[in-house]
Amino acid sequence: MLPASPRARMAHDITYRYRPDPNLYYLTGWEEPESVAVLRLQGDEPTLTLFVRPRDELAETWSGRRLGPQGAIENFGADAAYPIGDLSAKLPELLVGVDTLHFALGRQRPMDDLVLAAVEGARRLARKERTVFPYTIVHPEAHLGAMRLIKDDDEIAALRRVCDTTAAAQLAAMRACRPGMNERDLEAELDYAFRRHGGVGPANPSIVGSGVNATVLHYDRNDAPLRDGDLVLVDAGADQDHYKGDISRTYPVNGRFTNRQRQVYEVVLEAELAAIRAVAPGTTLGAVHHVACRRLIDGLMALEVLAGDPEELLSQSALAPFYPHQTSHWLGLDVHDAAPLDVQTADIELKPGMVFTIEPGLYFPAGAEGCPADLAGLGVRIEDDILVTSTGCEVLTSAVPKAVEEVEREVGSGKGPVQE
Ligand code: GLY
Ligand code: MN
Ligand code: MN
Repeated sequence: MLPASPRARMAHDITYRYRPDPNLYYLTGWEEPESVAVLRLQGDEPTLTLFVRPRDELAETWSGRRLGPQGAIENFGADAAYPIGDLSAKLPELLVGVDTLHFALGRQRPMDDLVLAAVEGARRLARKERTVFPYTIVHPEAHLGAMRLIKDDDEIAALRRVCDTTAAAQLAAMRACRPGMNERDLEAELDYAFRRHGGVGPANPSIVGSGVNATVLHYDRNDAPLRDGDLVLVDAGADQDHYKGDISRTYPVNGRFTNRQRQVYEVVLEAELAAIRAVAPGTTLGAVHHVACRRLIDGLMALEVLAGDPEELLSQSALAPFYPHQTSHWLGLDVHDAAPLDVQTADIELKPGMVFTIEPGLYFPAGAEGCPADLAGLGVRIEDDILVTSTGCEVLTSAVPKAVEEVEREVGSGKGPVQE
């Protein structure tokens, strides 16, 4: 049983644009809010019962057309459909004869209460009919996590589209960037390109952090001036056809790295390239992370930030102050995509069709302990989206340059911000 995501409130009686729940979309393709899908076996036959918003002329005048129960059957292909208001009355009988209910408890309290009452109702009915009721409730991602981990051909095609859109947006921002602009101007370039290339918009708040703001991992104020001599870290992804992109690039606002900026940048770039080279079926994200961490440690030793035995430094978490996050997360219908619940992401054996990010970084917040003065305020992250293939991997986001000379060539090479 998969309920639609609730609408998120933006202000008083205004909601954000609706984004369907990934699990519900993955299994059914249904996109309307205030809906619940119940997938059951009837005998050996899988059946889809949908509870949906009823047709309502006035409501549809305000917020658009609804399929309604009849449309859900005739136009969408549900086996049965009812108005959402009938859920509590109908659910118990749908649960009779079912021993395991896959439902995510703890997300929406009123739905939890409704489901638990329906399970109790099903227990009473089941006793009369001498059959079972859901005596086990399982988190749906116990199975969906494993299913969503391997992308099929349609999903890979969608991921290619969203990665292309995200790459075009990153390149547009890079080309527009000039001292005197504001972080928000680069965000505007991203937003414009996301829409122009067919996306719904950003998959998550874009991060445009210049200077010391680049050291704040999920910075999203994006309202500081872009200063000559600073780096800017742009981490953003489009949401297109339900799939998400996720690219980070870091570049000098004026198009020329200083020596120190370049040294740090090249350490992160080396780590990113080494991690990508390490990807192949049979290895794990834990191993890929280790490769990235080892390169970052070597780089920090060369920069005289750390000293000692590199493997010992690694095991002592010496990297953590400068690299506090993981190298990878799965990517798909969610930016941080679903994965099996019974095994750690780091331990999952990579297989063709898996898609994830590789995104090492180094961060030196101003005033942080152990941070050399001439590195204070620098933050660099480089992030690409990776598809595991039968022989190794494919970088889905290679259209955005990251080699120093190419980045220096691209930054500021465009017409500049759109003029009114
Ligand atoms: N900025 C979130 C991420 O890259 O995962
Ligand atoms: Mn990112
Ligand atoms: Mn990411």
